[in-house]
Amino acid sequence: MLWPRLKPDPESGLYIFTGESTVEFDCVEETDLILIHSNKLNYTKLENGHLASLTSPAGTAPSITESRIQTVTQYLVLRLNSKLLKGQRYQLYTKFTGELADDLGGFYRSEYFEGTEKKVIATTQMQPTDARKSFPCFDEPAMKAYFDITLRHDFGTVALSNGEATGTTNVTSDGVTVQQTVFARTEKMSTYLLAFIVCDYDFIHSNANGVLIRIFARKPAIAAGQGDYALNITGPILTFFEGYYNSSYPLPKSDQIAIPDFNAGAMENWGLITYRETALLYDEAFSSNSNKERIATIIAHELAHMWFGNLVTLRWWNDLWLNEGFASYVEYLGANRAEPGWNVADLIVLNDVHRVFAVDALASSHPLSSKEEDIQKPEQISELFDSITYSKGASVLRMLSDFLTEDVFTKGLQTYLKEFAFGSTVYTDLWKHLQTAAEDNKVDLPTNIDTIMNTWVLQMGFPVVTIDTTTGTISQQHFLLDPDSVSPPSSPFNYEWIVPIRWIKTGVVQPPKWLQKKSDTIAEMQTTGADWVLANLNVVGYYRVNYDSNNWNKLLGVLSTSHTTIPVINRAQLVDDSFNLARAKIIPTVQALETTKYLNLERDYMPWQSAINNLNFFYLMFDRTEVYGPMQTYLNQKVTPLFEHFKTVTENWIKVPDDHLDQYNQVNAISMACKTGLTECTDLVKTWFSNWMTTDVNSIHPNLRSTVYCNAIAAGGANEWDFAWNKFKEATIAIEADKLRAALACTKEPWLLNRYLEYTLDPEKIRKQDATSTIVYIARNVIGQSLAWDFIRAHWSYIFNEYGGGSFSFSNLISGVTERFSTEFELQQLRQFKEDNAGVGFGSGTLAVDQAMERTQANIKWVAENKNNVLDWLTSPSAF
Ligand code: BES
Ligand code: ZN
Repeated sequence: MLWPRLKPDPESGLYIFTGESTVEFDCVEETDLILIHSNKLNYTKLENGHLASLTSPAGTAPSITESRIQTVTQYLVLRLNSKLLKGQRYQLYTKFTGELADDLGGFYRSEYFEGTEKKVIATTQMQPTDARKSFPCFDEPAMKAYFDITLRHDFGTVALSNGEATGTTNVTSDGVTVQQTVFARTEKMSTYLLAFIVCDYDFIHSNANGVLIRIFARKPAIAAGQGDYALNITGPILTFFEGYYNSSYPLPKSDQIAIPDFNAGAMENWGLITYRETALLYDEAFSSNSNKERIATIIAHELAHMWFGNLVTLRWWNDLWLNEGFASYVEYLGANRAEPGWNVADLIVLNDVHRVFAVDALASSHPLSSKEEDIQKPEQISELFDSITYSKGASVLRMLSDFLTEDVFTKGLQTYLKEFAFGSTVYTDLWKHLQTAAEDNKVDLPTNIDTIMNTWVLQMGFPVVTIDTTTGTISQQHFLLDPDSVSPPSSPFNYEWIVPIRWIKTGVVQPPKWLQKKSDTIAEMQTTGADWVLANLNVVGYYRVNYDSNNWNKLLGVLSTSHTTIPVINRAQLVDDSFNLARAKIIPTVQALETTKYLNLERDYMPWQSAINNLNFFYLMFDRTEVYGPMQTYLNQKVTPLFEHFKTVTENWIKVPDDHLDQYNQVNAISMACKTGLTECTDLVKTWFSNWMTTDVNSIHPNLRSTVYCNAIAAGGANEWDFAWNKFKEATIAIEADKLRAALACTKEPWLLNRYLEYTLDPEKIRKQDATSTIVYIARNVIGQSLAWDFIRAHWSYIFNEYGGGSFSFSNLISGVTERFSTEFELQQLRQFKEDNAGVGFGSGTLAVDQAMERTQANIKWVAENKNNVLDWLTSPSAF
């Protein structure tokens, strides 16, 4: 039973909750010591003089002789006067209070205003190790239990939990009468998936195959229809996963709720999924197509966990990559079902594969799989929520599903879920089921799945596969972004992988091959005449590809004459691979630049986005140097035709392109045109923004708002900034506030940026959940970069203590603020920073500090080696 108080305690002034709990357990082995997780809870001394009491329904129980809290290990420790008996059942009772703080972890509080009235919500975020902060429990994923939950709450509020409410009664306690809602016993489940919420929200509901679906949000948000989109797509996605897993949704209801203060994007609590408001609420008048896509994918991601993760749970956190990687892969399949016209499934290549390549190419990367003994402390567990876990996990599972075929992959998955329902597993359990499915379906594999996958899971990094079309030799090598970086620790497979090769020859798809050793010959890959080879079709494989220069030249030729002969994902790949091969000094940088020459012909989103991502590195390295001018001229010339194209398609910026990805590329056209100084673009955005300022009517299309706001604020001064700040404060939908919050970081005025930095640490101005990302936005601005770096150095211990509890946000903060580093001086500052704060620590950003140093070193060398040739290339006539 938990009772959160939504008004501060008159004595202490703190928000608190009180609780009572009985843990029923069976003794498996005799012991006179009980350790049960507990963190930041204050226990009431019971009649026995201890923090807990022990009884046994079947007989007598030992007496407690000592009870204390062990803060470091987060245990409530109980010593007994005699041993618990094997096979006997016991009940452990406690009564406790805790603080309902605004710290986004455990049982915490979130606040918002409805008009001028302040509202308080009590809500939870247990994963990974904060269930113990709301009640004493065996807080480990494999220690599944049934939970009987009761919440006490004020009249007029709603109480929610994992199960259905079975009844609400009035109770009088401590002299006040409140409501008491009892929930149906849960299924057997892990503590990290529990959720308790008290709020005064509204909801909308529907039904899918007998499952009650509800969307909860602030009353005005529900009234404005902002939950409708989520409600409409949840049913189809749920039905999709029931088919995909061949298993009905395991619970009677599925609630989803938008919480104003929330650390992650969303959390898969079983039956009661919590979201950031921006990740669940959609409003046509405010949300871009990108916001809408994020809602669809994040819902799909969390619903995917209802089976994979919740019904069947990985035994320990070291296998988190399989849980999160799996959901991050199938979220695309689920979203694709909800929005079949969008082609979202392709985007995994940009959003996950390419993104994580950047991290996994560092010598400071780490394997997907960790050893159980290395992942013990809460901060070690939190640190695992990184892009390797999510994006590399998703990428290798997509590769696996592809070489098995989706049909076989799902068959193995289905039997896995069936065997382990309500239980827990290790990742090899999945491989076993997939192996059986592969054998039953006679899939032709070079060796067993375990052997293939170990090369991807147990060693860090990925290969660059080199194809020499003059000889047909194909070889692999560990791809390291910085070829001079300190050799990474040895790998159990000597940095060799078992690589599935899908490829095309001169536009025609060829039978797939495997590369199973360092080097091999595939005779069919030898070409003559005009034939060319392109490998890693649709970038289904987790590797980069390099060719002999002759084949590269042919590919460049195809790009400039008939680029659509190359599938669109592979056009994005050619750009990304060549830019990265160049950074690793495998090919010359100018050869990478050559892949951008055809962009004046390109209209598709994926290749453009890939180019923009890679050119962004050039901006980061060069926007404070003499290369900047010529680079602007070159890129301006490349993007102008795209800008003109969308101007025509949209009938002078009136209409919205039909296609989802075209809508994205329209945004790219505008942002790149403005960035490279196309006056027509800057004038356009300035006019739109000033119309808003003068008329107070915002007619800027939601898709374009982020880029328009940013460019207009960058071009403007304090007036534009203050106007946007006021709109930010007034915004009634978080998605609009978020666009403004990002755009406010675009100003070129140092004093505005410094003031904004100060705001980030004032939760009255910027919610705690948004602090680190706001600092990162400021650091992305060339003017804000050094200000943000000074700022986090000056406030590190405060930021760490107030904001460091969370998860990925902390490594993002470190990598974001140091992204531009490319001088010895900056490297020295980073070293100093690490040294100075060794005592405070970096929490879940620990690895990110080392990665930042490695990246800075690579950048220093890269700039030294490339500045002149890039400048020469950009200013030579051949660039045009
Ligand atoms: N289980 C996570 C949420 C989480 C993250 C809890 C970190 C604790 C620490 C959830 O399933 C998740 O992965 N959410 C993602 C969204 C997803 C679409 C990648 C998130 O929060 O960003
Ligand atoms: Zn997840």
